[in-house]
Amino acid sequence: MADTETRCGSDELLFWVNGKKIVERNADPETTLLTYLRRKLGLTGTKLGCAEGGCGACTVMLSRYQTHTQQLLHYAVNACLAPLCSLHMVAVTTVEGIGSVARKLHPVQERIARAHGSQCGFCTPGIVMSMYALLRNNPTPKMADVEEAFQGNLCRCTGYRPILEGYKTFTVDGGCCGGRGRDNGCCMANGSGAESTSLFNAADFAPFDPTQEVIFPPELMSLTKGQRSALLCFRGDRTTWLQPDSLDEFLRLKWIHPDARVVVGNTEVGIEVKFKNMVYPVILAPAFIPELIEVRHTEDGVVFGAACTLSHMAALLRQEVETLPPHRTEVFLAVLEQLRWFAGLQIRNVAAVGGNIMTASPISDLNPVFMATGCKLTLMDKDGSRVVPMDAAFFPGYRKTGLRPQEVLVSIEVPFSRRTQFVSVFKQSPRREDDISIVTAAMSVTFGPGTAVVEELRLSYGGVAAVTTLATATARKLLGRCWGEELLQDACSSLAEEMTLDPSAPGGMVTYRRTLTLSLFYKFYLTVLQKLRAQGVTVDAVRPDCLSAADLFHTETPSSLQVYQAVPEGRGQGDAIGRPMMHLSALKQATGEAVYCDDVPLYENELYLSLITSSKAHAHILSIDASVAEAMLGVVCCVFAADVPGSNATGPVQYDETVLADRQVTCVGHIIGAVVADTQIHAQRAAKAVQIQYEELPPVVTIQEAIAAQSFYQPIRTIQKGDLEAGFKQADHILEGEMHIGGQEHFYLETNVTLAVPRGEDGEMELFVSTQSTTKTQALVAKALGVPANRVVVRVKRMGGAFGGKETRTTVLSTVVAVAANKLKRPVRCMLDRDEDMLVMGGRHPFYGKYKVGYLGSGKVVALDVSYYSNAGNSMDLSLSVMERALFHMENSYSVANVRGRGFMCRTNLPSNTAFRGFGGPQGMMVAESWITDVAQSLDRPAEEVRRLNLYVEGESTPYNQILDQLTLDRCWDECLARSGYQQRRAAVDLYNRQNRWTKRGLAIVPTKFGISFTAAFLNQAGALVHVYTDGSVLLTHGGTEMGQGLHTKMVQVASRVLGIPCSKIHISETSTNTVPNSSPTAASASSDLNGAAVQSACVVLVKRLEPYKTENPKGSWEDWVRAAYFDRVNLSANGFYKTPDLGYDFETNSGRVFNYFSSGVACSEVEVDCLTGSHKNLSSTIVMDVGHSLNPALDIGQVEGAFMQGLGLFTTEELRYSPLGVLLTRGPGSYKIPAFGDIPTHLTVSLLRDAPNDKAIFASKAVGEPPLFLASANFYAIKDAVTAARGESGLGGPFRLDSPASCERIRIACSDKFTRLCPPPEPGTFTPWSVQV
Ligand SMILES: Cc1cc2nc3c(=O)[nH]c(=O)nc-3n(C[C@H](O)[C@H](O)[C@H](O)COP(=O)(O)OP(=O)(O)OC[C@H]3O[C@@H](n4cnc5c(N)ncnc54)[C@H](O)[C@@H]3O)c2cc1C
Ligand code: FES
Ligand code: FES
Repeated sequence: MADTETRCGSDELLFWVNGKKIVERNADPETTLLTYLRRKLGLTGTKLGCAEGGCGACTVMLSRYQTHTQQLLHYAVNACLAPLCSLHMVAVTTVEGIGSVARKLHPVQERIARAHGSQCGFCTPGIVMSMYALLRNNPTPKMADVEEAFQGNLCRCTGYRPILEGYKTFTVDGGCCGGRGRDNGCCMANGSGAESTSLFNAADFAPFDPTQEVIFPPELMSLTKGQRSALLCFRGDRTTWLQPDSLDEFLRLKWIHPDARVVVGNTEVGIEVKFKNMVYPVILAPAFIPELIEVRHTEDGVVFGAACTLSHMAALLRQEVETLPPHRTEVFLAVLEQLRWFAGLQIRNVAAVGGNIMTASPISDLNPVFMATGCKLTLMDKDGSRVVPMDAAFFPGYRKTGLRPQEVLVSIEVPFSRRTQFVSVFKQSPRREDDISIVTAAMSVTFGPGTAVVEELRLSYGGVAAVTTLATATARKLLGRCWGEELLQDACSSLAEEMTLDPSAPGGMVTYRRTLTLSLFYKFYLTVLQKLRAQGVTVDAVRPDCLSAADLFHTETPSSLQVYQAVPEGRGQGDAIGRPMMHLSALKQATGEAVYCDDVPLYENELYLSLITSSKAHAHILSIDASVAEAMLGVVCCVFAADVPGSNATGPVQYDETVLADRQVTCVGHIIGAVVADTQIHAQRAAKAVQIQYEELPPVVTIQEAIAAQSFYQPIRTIQKGDLEAGFKQADHILEGEMHIGGQEHFYLETNVTLAVPRGEDGEMELFVSTQSTTKTQALVAKALGVPANRVVVRVKRMGGAFGGKETRTTVLSTVVAVAANKLKRPVRCMLDRDEDMLVMGGRHPFYGKYKVGYLGSGKVVALDVSYYSNAGNSMDLSLSVMERALFHMENSYSVANVRGRGFMCRTNLPSNTAFRGFGGPQGMMVAESWITDVAQSLDRPAEEVRRLNLYVEGESTPYNQILDQLTLDRCWDECLARSGYQQRRAAVDLYNRQNRWTKRGLAIVPTKFGISFTAAFLNQAGALVHVYTDGSVLLTHGGTEMGQGLHTKMVQVASRVLGIPCSKIHISETSTNTVPNSSPTAASASSDLNGAAVQSACVVLVKRLEPYKTENPKGSWEDWVRAAYFDRVNLSANGFYKTPDLGYDFETNSGRVFNYFSSGVACSEVEVDCLTGSHKNLSSTIVMDVGHSLNPALDIGQVEGAFMQGLGLFTTEELRYSPLGVLLTRGPGSYKIPAFGDIPTHLTVSLLRDAPNDKAIFASKAVGEPPLFLASANFYAIKDAVTAARGESGLGGPFRLDSPASCERIRIACSDKFTRLCPPPEPGTFTPWSVQV
């Protein structure tokens, strides 16, 4: 590197963070901005959610003065991918830099919080910063701008609606629904006296004044203007970063270092380094070289420097489209359309066009357009330049280009289109926004002037081969042909032949991908026909019913309505119960001041832990060699089974797991050991260097394999009622069916984290854990350490989401971290990376259901025999309770006189599956909705009639003999039918379907009835501890944990009402095992019921103790009474306890009460399916939910919407893929798609049933966390309804199997038609598929 060094201008990185100048002399090129902010600067407001640019939790704003345009640029970026070294002369703004609760809130922080757009808050700083960056560039945005700004942000809690609602208030067009949002008018109406429709008052918001923003640092401005160019050079442990200042210098360096990696946005290289363990000794960063960022016009088109960012490219192309005649901009429009769906804005703001080309990914979205339209590339090395066309020869192999090692890409010329040229592009991905393609395509055709004769045709596809590819044979065949039906037929047959894929091809979905090549061509064909006719060329007219097939995807800005019971007039303002009070931490969450587990400042002697996990699903461990790892930089020691001082046997219910694997591994991800080092990066690198030899054993991966091998956990549960045989005899018809429901990843934005701090005496240890279960963690850590539980304190401040994923599985990490801390007698921390978390932690159980249903001609179901099989994984965990809940929900809301349900838990070699919102209930009910749909379809009766006919009525009893009282199902049903305008909608959907061949709409209304209580009766207990201090302030503690659901807020509301003091006097600090012992996990939706009653009982004791002082001094204040009581030596601390009465069910006798009560709800959804691609749009959802007398309508509606969106993911977009050998292939937001902003139903109505008090829970309320999740199945069955209409066009009728999730692949294949028939699936058993249904 000597030659480089002599020319180095500086090794000093100069940048600003929140207005503060930073000079970094030891900038490591492998350090990201996020790590630097969190670990070096202690700015923990910016969160780590994925480390791969896919969640937006780490969003910050960068500002730069661009000298050649004299422009100040502000743009949102992902700090997790931004290399620290790329920040020279840049100003960074983080969430802490724009406002704080202590100082002054910025309106973007205040509005998201007050609009209830922050639940767990882990996504909130990122969303705040995306909005902030938008406003810095455009203080008067439109709603479309807001939607674009959030393409790269995910939230797992809120369902997005409240975030958009809050931020609508910044927009010029979104302030009001324009009359669409309300049944009887406008969203600004506040509802009638009895009901309310506003959850916040925008008039309370502080005004937004764009002139008050923090200014760009003046010193940075003058330094930038006066800057002399120089080569920058930063050296790290393994990598050197060279930032040349001129093209010559760049070429010279590339000549010296032909293996150097060129980095612009780092959105590709960053992923390679982080996830593919790549090390690049030399990095060349050319982002500031004028020739590489300039844009110029030529006669033929526009030339973009290779380092131009995609956002910049889009902005310039938009300008071109606005100024040039339309026939010149076909190519530009095609590029713009691809960019519309390319990643999120944070990525587009930094990713370069050259980076996309040079990555040579087979699923690049831009390369097909560049290839189909004949773009030209200018390549250069030290000796000169050459121009090459972007054609098939440019990509000689997987991720390879035709560049020589010393060459770089300088620019790309995007041509103007010609008058007779038409270009279309298509991107098909599992999710519309921020997703990588399954198939991506660009098609360009040029006709002879005034004719429909094809002169030139290029069909370019991504995702159907190892490289972006051209269908050259098909294109050749069509040259000289007339654009018409015959050409279409030949094109399809030819494409089916030409675009083949190996049945085992990586990525799977082989039949779907092949079908897409044809379906997309058909869309192109229709589009071109229309364009030719518009030009007056004689061609066939497009049939009116086919027109919608050619429409580009678009959605309307969402509108919504929330309805709830208003607090009765006359109730004092001081009583917070029933009011839409903001989540108590929301403001802190929006400013980044809320402290999550990994935000706890580093202890001085703290170490970091990284897990060593199995790469085999089932194997004996022959040997472990950690010698290389132990010698690596920063490593302190390794930890294995022999280091567990107590018992290595662990598990939340049965001790059938190991803290650290001993001799055998039973899943990929099984924890074998851990490396402890000084930093995360050192620990992680060393963990990968541990060598493990295995003797592989045959794994059982899928439910079907487990059934074949009879690999089940015991017991096999049965619930039976009535006389099954007689029931089937009585039936007019009997049908059988089956359904598979895929699992689900929790995708809490905050991954699992534990910080264990040995206290130095008596074996005491303090743990900060992100867990729903403090007591279980305490017990299992104590067991592993071999100490009594009284030596272990577990503390939880808040979690960044949990959803059941942190109920038991957290202990697999906490125990290991505790063992390491105990061994080293030093604090040890570990926060799992997203890919590790997904690999190790398990998720929702996949289920397979098989059923036989007997029913009358009327549709009344009289007999049901159903068997459930769950994929439990490699340990029991909570699988038995999950299966029991599935069985308790097997009839959903339908009365069936003769019924038998059996539940089999499959023992497989997958990571143990666990609790997940709904806890088996949704899977149980999903199968019920499948058979009720089959019954309706087999009778050709409307599904809603059959559902209504079978709906439970008051006084009937469930299969487990629980009498249903205070049933509100019918009220929810009727309100939902009315609010959704079901009958008019049905008529409109049917009309639409008659008028459209290739897009179909579907409608479904689905009920849910969810039993509330832990089914293990002993868990239905809770404790609380209330201290009143002499200044009148109250410290409240209870056994429940805060994970975003607002439990602490509700508990403060309860205490406030009972004590008769404002909420502001009450504080909850945390949940801990040394304040409230033996707590049940915060789960089963019952935490408000249980803890609320415990809090109430503690507060009642205190009220009684204070009563005499109140009587004595009736005009006095709370503080007066407290002080008087104190001086009178009264105990101002009380604990409370509650247990749910009369519970206890016996499977043997099928008797005893399982549930305290039921929560019910009904949803009606309408969707639109694109039958050619399998994509769907959620057009409308109406939800009516019975939450009793809501304790807090804002929180309850937040739970309804959040659960609904999570259900939407479960049933439509989220698909975990496993290899046949049990390796999880989807380990991050890049490959696993939770719903994004764009997936919200265009019209969303949530109504909390009014006048429905529940006498079985605190202040007549009802549980809400889990019950609404299942309502999203309305979208699944609406999709099935639409697919039914599509199948009808091909003459297919009657029931058919559709597994969950209804992914675009499943939808497309189910819409069987002439295109799918040309691409038959490969013969099962003749190949090894890339992934299997587990
Ligand atoms: C969350 C996320 C979402 C994404 N979504 C999409 C998507 O929707 N569609 C899609 O197609 N891609 C997507 N990508 C991939 C990626 O963003 C793009 O490929 C992007 O254009 C890469 O640009 P970059 O500047 O960040 O590349 P870098 O990571 O900086 O570099 C990428 C590669 O290009 C080479 N290179 C860059 N410039 C030159 C040059 N001038 N000369 C020679 N070699 C050069 C580098 O050496 C390197 O190998 C996504 C990535 C992420 C992380
Ligand atoms: S942490 Fe950066 S995008 Fe997820
Ligand atoms: S509030 Fe968005 S992830 Fe929890």
